[in-house]
Amino acid sequence: MTKSTAQSLMLQRQLIQYLAAGDCCSGEWLAQQTGISRAAIARHIDQLQEIGLDIYAVTGKGYRLATPLQLLDLTEMKQYQSAAAPEIWLQHLTDSTNTQLLKRLQDGHQLQKGQVLVAEAQTAGRGRRGNSWFSPFGSNLYFSMYWQLEHGIQAAMGLSLVVGIAIARMLEQHYQLGVQLKWPNDLYAGQRKLGGILVELSGQTHANCDVVIGIGLNIQMPAQAQQQISQPFTDLVSLLDKPLNRNELIPLLQHSLCETLSQFEHSGFNSFVEAFNQRNVFAGQPVTLSGAGGSQHGICQGVDGQGGLVLEQQGQQKAYYGGELSLRGQPE
Ligand code: BTN
Repeated sequence: MTKSTAQSLMLQRQLIQYLAAGDCCSGEWLAQQTGISRAAIARHIDQLQEIGLDIYAVTGKGYRLATPLQLLDLTEMKQYQSAAAPEIWLQHLTDSTNTQLLKRLQDGHQLQKGQVLVAEAQTAGRGRRGNSWFSPFGSNLYFSMYWQLEHGIQAAMGLSLVVGIAIARMLEQHYQLGVQLKWPNDLYAGQRKLGGILVELSGQTHANCDVVIGIGLNIQMPAQAQQQISQPFTDLVSLLDKPLNRNELIPLLQHSLCETLSQFEHSGFNSFVEAFNQRNVFAGQPVTLSGAGGSQHGICQGVDGQGGLVLEQQGQQKAYYGGELSLRGQPE
């Protein structure tokens, strides 16, 4: 990072801190506080709008956030972690939290199992199938966790399903919120997408398999999301109908993942079949599974002991291990 990029990020962070409470701040006051000109303040405000902050100018008064923001704060997150919990890293702005953890692994850094990286915004957030992941500042959760599977790459089968179960359990237990899972790695609530999972494997240099688990969870989508996202979506604040503390949610998610993934390592996917099937968003419905080899139609029966999707086709049950699932007659 160049010196001027670092300075500019620092200034933006300062501006966000002044605006976070939702008060109106004049350009002149912001210029005094930060020691830069009013024109420079206006340029930085433009850049903040570009990374997804909903800031508007109030004529004659200054700048204001459309809704107050609670910023991510490591000290607060620590209060919700147990003493033995792996570290959480925070980046204000990054390209992609998954890319950053993968890069650290490729550069030979040792990471602790369960170590997490979160960011306030991503400039190149990645979804599955090469899609980009809408990542506006401060509104959602952009979370990546390092894990290592001790039985190599074959143990990765079913991993994203287990991650979905860990997220669902945490939301049920701590927020009394029921969510559904779409095979292989989406979170749904009321037929709308609430989050997605992107599991990526790093180059193997030993029998163990390094994994980066990326989770994007919608917390409070800004108004512009309607223009950016083509499928129906929802967020936690609308579902719970009250504000949500991301600094509490992140350690809770880390804990649930560590617990559930340890169980997965000891008992394999077989012990999760029921947990997935209970939350299967398309249970008993006619679905289409599209893959490189064409499309399969059938009734969605859930998953088998390896994490494969079971379809009932002409009275027979058949398991599939890849492809994109959708309700029959609807886009993926
Ligand atoms: C999907 O549904 O397509 C998966 C989306 C995964 C998004 C998360 S956000 C944190 C992590 N960093 C990324 O670039 N992607 C994942």
